[in-house]
Amino acid sequence: MNQPLPSEITPPQHYANRRQWLQAGLAAAAGAAWGSSPSAWATQPGSSKLAALTGQPSRIAGGSTLEKTTPFADASGYNNFYELGMRKEEPARNAHRLPLADWTVRIEGLVAQPQTLGLEELLRLAPLEERIYRLRCVEGWSMVIPWVGYSLAALLQKVQPLGSAKYVQFETLADAQHMPGLRSRVLQWPYTEGLRLDEAMHPLSLLAFGMYGQVLPGQNGAPVRLVVPWKYGFKSAKSLVAIRLEEQQPATAWNQTAPHEYGFYSNVNPDVPHRRWSQATERRIGEDGLLAPKRPTLPFNGYAEQVAQLYSGMDLQRYY
Ligand code: MTE
Repeated sequence: MNQPLPSEITPPQHYANRRQWLQAGLAAAAGAAWGSSPSAWATQPGSSKLAALTGQPSRIAGGSTLEKTTPFADASGYNNFYELGMRKEEPARNAHRLPLADWTVRIEGLVAQPQTLGLEELLRLAPLEERIYRLRCVEGWSMVIPWVGYSLAALLQKVQPLGSAKYVQFETLADAQHMPGLRSRVLQWPYTEGLRLDEAMHPLSLLAFGMYGQVLPGQNGAPVRLVVPWKYGFKSAKSLVAIRLEEQQPATAWNQTAPHEYGFYSNVNPDVPHRRWSQATERRIGEDGLLAPKRPTLPFNGYAEQVAQLYSGMDLQRYY
């Protein structure tokens, strides 16, 4: 693992306080009577603590970085969620329009047990953990976000992939009535993404329901999203409605739009520039001002030790 710079480590006292706050908040919410349905809960992003639904305190899990976390205001105010608008501040402004009530996710395709799961069933499927991951956007900025969720592998195992399943496609909500960004032709809707099955089964691949100890704000992909920390941020599809196991490499929104700029793999790689800019360095949102020196981008976003073996023997210049 790459060691964080001393200046990047949150002072232990601050960190302990944060943990206390998280645990106290979770405990308090768990104690509160929970009369309303999960869908009612989900229409108030950020207002409730996740453990209120599950009764499980979250715990910090393997793969977490010790780096200082990005302020919540930045992580929830500077977003890419094109269905909710192209400019960075628009998703937060339009997030209240997301139709979160009665949300379901279909898990289908080459599986022995296809199913459609409601949010509550999804939340109860595996213990929730806190995972503090770096997120590196292809645009050249990064954040450090404490997500709450569990490994996608837990869900995939439940539906029992068939031997012929080699890839996983993720489909996200495309609701023209509630998502003003769908009027734009910048991407083909619905937004789709994909992983190879072994990437999807890797324990770092996270199904996230919350961040900073709270339910996901709409602009960050409520009520459930993918987080794949060693790949560029666009692989981490928000507001999932379907997960499909397939034999062939699936279409993905960015790859369809600009295949020479956005490859299927899109592993963070400082040695493979984007067609129009370098990927060698990055700016940490909320910390590095425009004039601050940029920090070097790490291969696989710093997760090489965990994931590089997934690509042994592959030419990563070709399979970018
Ligand atoms: N998911 C959907 N459905 N639509 C999007 O436009 N943008 C992606 C990804 N997931 C996007 C999406 C991009 S480009 C990035 S960098 C991350 O979400 C940003 O996640 P964040 O806003 O939580 O930091």
